[in-house]
Amino acid sequence: MKTFVLIGGSGLDKFGLFEDSEQIQVKTPYDGKPVEVTRGTVEGLDVVFLSRHGVKVKRPPHMINFRANVWALSMFEPDSIIALASVGCIDPEHQPGLIAIPDQILDYTSGRETSYNTGLEETINFIDFTYPFDMDLKEAIVKAADDLDMDFVDGGVYACTQGPRLETAAEIDRFQRDGAHYVGMTLMPEACLAKELNLPYAAICQLVNYAAGRGDSKDKIEIDKTVDILRDTTDRSVKIALQVFKDRNKNP
Ligand code: HPA
Repeated sequence: MKTFVLIGGSGLDKFGLFEDSEQIQVKTPYDGKPVEVTRGTVEGLDVVFLSRHGVKVKRPPHMINFRANVWALSMFEPDSIIALASVGCIDPEHQPGLIAIPDQILDYTSGRETSYNTGLEETINFIDFTYPFDMDLKEAIVKAADDLDMDFVDGGVYACTQGPRLETAAEIDRFQRDGAHYVGMTLMPEACLAKELNLPYAAICQLVNYAAGRGDSKDKIEIDKTVDILRDTTDRSVKIALQVFKDRNKNP
């Protein structure tokens, strides 16, 4: 039986669709604390759900133990991992309420643990990261969103910032010049750690606000006002992820 992983971001810390489920504390070599995941059945699928920021205590993006999280997920030998992540819109063609399936990343984070290489092995694992997401999985997400008749943006460059502060207007202008379409705080180093462990990983982004200096965030970002949009875009993203899992479950 295949196992599928869903990573929830700030819009999804509990997964409500399990028919039956158990909480599992996964011990990892990182940081002492086990990673709590929920494993259960959803429409006949074996699904593991991880709340990226944690369950009880919420870790801000710069304090997430990404190595522990991804390591814990690898223990389930998943067929695929779909990560949800909320973002601000940079591309003038985009508006809050959309969802986007990224195909590239610009990494502006600093000081995060980005690798399982310890410096104590005899070889260095220089992963290829030309395409940071698993492109078969990304295309499966696009197909599922199409099949479900959803509006979505196919592709785009995700800019990852350090957070937890939001950006300055000048930073957003710079990210746009660099080629970014939307901005979030959490897909890195999650994506490269998944790649190091050879785990098929892709993302669905929820566009919840205009980035700093844009649209109705011209003077200020009111992140508290994004709750409804976050809920709605997250619901649609979960539907797409489950459709992908169903499609992949059918294929040998
Ligand atoms: N910037 C960074 N991360 C975000 C944003 C944003 O505007 N919106 C949601 N996550």
